[in-house]
Amino acid sequence: MVFPYKDIVSKAIVVVITSLWLLSLSTEAAAPEYLYHICGSNTTIYYPNSTFKSNLNLLLSNLSSNNTPNNLFYNTTGGSGPPGAAYGLFLCRGDVTINVCHDCVLNASQEIIQRCPKEKVAYIWYDQCMLRYDNRSFFGTMDESPKVYMWNMQNITEPDRFAQLLGDTMDKLANRASSDRSLNDQYVNRFATEDVNFTRLQRLYSLVQCTPDLSATDCNRCLRVAIGDLPNCCNGKKGGRVLQPSCNIRYETYPFYEIKATAPSPSPTPPPAPPLPISSTNPRGKGKLSSEIIIAIVVPVGLSLVLLAIGFCLLSRKRRRKYNVVEEENVGDEITILQSLQFDLSTIEVATNNFSSDNKIGEGGFGLVYKGILADGQEIAVKRLSKTSSQGAAEFNNEVVLVAKLQHRNLVRLLGFCREGGETMLIYEYVPNHSLDWFLFG
Ligand SMILES: *[C@@H]1O[C@H](CO)[C@@H](O)[C@H](O)[C@H]1NC(C)=O
Ligand SMILES: *[C@@H]1O[C@H](CO)[C@@H](O)[C@H](O)[C@H]1NC(C)=O
Ligand SMILES: *[C@@H]1O[C@H](CO)[C@@H](O)[C@H](O)[C@H]1NC(C)=O
Ligand SMILES: *[C@@H]1O[C@H](CO)[C@@H](O)[C@H](O)[C@H]1NC(C)=O
Ligand SMILES: *[C@@H]1O[C@H](CO)[C@@H](O)[C@H](O)[C@H]1NC(C)=O
Ligand SMILES: *[C@@H]1O[C@H](CO)[C@@H](O)[C@H](O)[C@H]1NC(C)=O
Ligand SMILES: *[C@@H]1O[C@H](CO)[C@@H](O)[C@H](O)[C@H]1NC(C)=O
Ligand SMILES: *[C@@H]1O[C@H](CO)[C@@H](O)[C@H](O)[C@H]1NC(C)=O
Repeated sequence: MVFPYKDIVSKAIVVVITSLWLLSLSTEAAAPEYLYHICGSNTTIYYPNSTFKSNLNLLLSNLSSNNTPNNLFYNTTGGSGPPGAAYGLFLCRGDVTINVCHDCVLNASQEIIQRCPKEKVAYIWYDQCMLRYDNRSFFGTMDESPKVYMWNMQNITEPDRFAQLLGDTMDKLANRASSDRSLNDQYVNRFATEDVNFTRLQRLYSLVQCTPDLSATDCNRCLRVAIGDLPNCCNGKKGGRVLQPSCNIRYETYPFYEIKATAPSPSPTPPPAPPLPISSTNPRGKGKLSSEIIIAIVVPVGLSLVLLAIGFCLLSRKRRRKYNVVEEENVGDEITILQSLQFDLSTIEVATNNFSSDNKIGEGGFGLVYKGILADGQEIAVKRLSKTSSQGAAEFNNEVVLVAKLQHRNLVRLLGFCREGGETMLIYEYVPNHSLDWFLFG
């Protein structure tokens, strides 16, 4: 398989992990559909006997209780203030019913604690909801990082015209979702969808949503960042998503949200999105979805700012190519243009002495780290992602790595990546005195 990736854009830090899913056919449309989770780094570890842990339990049972106000959004605090308090929220997709929302949040609140059993910071995304917590109060603040990208592997016909249509639609939706409505409506209405004709046979379905604790301005900013990422993640693809803590966007060529019978007219004060009945069988959307492969990229938590460089390792060694990673926006002098390289597996094998145990320098949640020396003498650290690093979702099929890098002066430079023979690896510059944590946890 060849993954073409020309314009690899970098805006931030760390490693991006991509995972390939085949969404299972058997799940019902309303069943919580797990997408991805991100745990904080191990600098945010808590002890099982800590105040934070008991506050987190309070928080999660509060969030998932049936007693929360009948909203698709809820934020609350476990415990009283720092230190030790746990802050959290959930956000359900704006078109789901309260029941679907509650099922999703219930599942999320249980899954998140299993998937991030020690970290004070965690995010989990589902089709129908997202849930996050932190040991700092983040309510009302806009977070665009960490983020997850997903895209449909299928190409769209007429990509240029599609990109134009998508851009126009997303633009309109961002404005609609972030328009200042009456305060009463805000808690359901930082959400907007639209479907438009693309070809005679194909329609484009788009969705944007912010957490309603954001101001109109912040919501707009968050969505603009996400929309700005679309060309990087999803150019020419039939579907795509950008999931950020404070907002998310998605588009597909099949309906994935409940479409209102009458198109919402842009009345000045639309009623709060009425919980629409979701038929438990949504064969159309579901069937299509399951036949498609989606890739998710995760920018692990941590560190400041934005990011993104993406590339694929061509499986064919003959077709090895170099990709340039270009700065998409001026994010300050800490980001510079860098080059992202695809490495051949054979190169890495030679450099690490065939992953000899003598070269092993560490072991982290993501997998093993090896030291190596390239033919030109450059010392490298190779992070070999364990195939189970995304923790055994049944649908989990394969793992692809995308790479990203923020040229931050404290960070280790990411040199490239490799995906071959079912392996995924990230290759960093080896910095002798640098904390191994960085290689391990990015
Ligand atoms: C984080 O993990 C690394 C590698 O396992 C370990 O060396 C380090 O002590 C950990 N840090 C904390 C704060 O637990
Ligand atoms: C919690 O457990 C850790 C070790 O597991 C221990 O070092 C710490 O003192 C304990 N804290 C309290 C408050 O019991
Ligand atoms: C959830 O937390 C809020 C605010 O702290 C509190 O008023 C409410 O009673 C809690 N609900 C439950 C079910 O614990
Ligand atoms: C929810 O967030 C708002 C700010 O957006 C904050 O004022 C409020 O105290 C939070 N609620 C709880 C229960 O923490
Ligand atoms: C969450 O839902 C999935 C399927 O939708 C299920 O397999 C999993 O066991 C659920 N998790 C919990 C903790 O209930
Ligand atoms: C959150 O936890 C980290 C790591 O334990 C700690 O350094 C930080 O001060 C905490 N933040 C707050 C607001 O308590
Ligand atoms: C998508 O288009 C690219 C060329 O732009 C091609 O290399 C790739 O194979 C196509 N993928 C599919 C699934 O058709
Ligand atoms: C979109 O396409 C459908 C079916 O082809 C057609 O019925 C409808 O009128 C079209 N809508 C617009 C606005 O062109």
